[in-house]
Amino acid sequence: MEDMSYWKEVWERKGNGNTNSLEELDGYEDTTADVKEIARQIVEQMDIKETDKILEVACGAGGLAQYIKCGEYVGVDYSSSLVKRHIELLNNSVLHGEANDLIFKDKTFDKVICFGAFHYFPNHEYSKQAIAELKRVAKEAIFIGDLPVTSHRKEHLLYDKKDFGEWEVIDGYYNPSRFNVYLKL
Ligand SMILES: C[S@@+](CC[C@H](N)C(=O)[O-])C[C@H]1O[C@@H](n2cnc3c(N)ncnc32)[C@H](O)[C@@H]1O
Repeated sequence: MEDMSYWKEVWERKGNGNTNSLEELDGYEDTTADVKEIARQIVEQMDIKETDKILEVACGAGGLAQYIKCGEYVGVDYSSSLVKRHIELLNNSVLHGEANDLIFKDKTFDKVICFGAFHYFPNHEYSKQAIAELKRVAKEAIFIGDLPVTSHRKEHLLYDKKDFGEWEVIDGYYNPSRFNVYLKL
């Protein structure tokens, strides 16, 4: 799946939907995901403190962000409609941008999260660039979540746990065909 525009258009449309449910805007409506519980597990895994400066890459409308309490939160997403909804609904600091080209200086954030987005990337080269960017802007830790090993959608980019050698691999939080990875820097 090399075409960048397919998922981009899906997420652009999503943000124009007439719901104010953050979970629905972020595409969780047809899944078994308990987003509040997922956020609790990420906060615990990363030991997110109320003083931490957090970046969420591919933050959507804030489905996850609404449950993350920290010192400072910044989100980035490539869907301008979802960025707009996120700002309207949660009043967070959210920028429009691509996961593989972050505008921040090196080590700007204590901890960096990217949940539920890597399967929408166009190819593995893009994923490598995104991982390099997450590492560049993070000081302490990175969490990448919801990576599919298999999927019912042919448009999803798939991942192999073996490719995350230096990372701690964690079982999926709600879907057994997905996994999470965590890296302490
Ligand atoms: C399933 S939603 C997850 C949103 C949020 N992380 C959450 O868990 O509530 C996936 C998000 O990834 C964003 N996304 C997908 N590919 C992206 C990319 N290459 N760069 C930035 N954002 C991207 C979409 O616009 C969408 O908001």
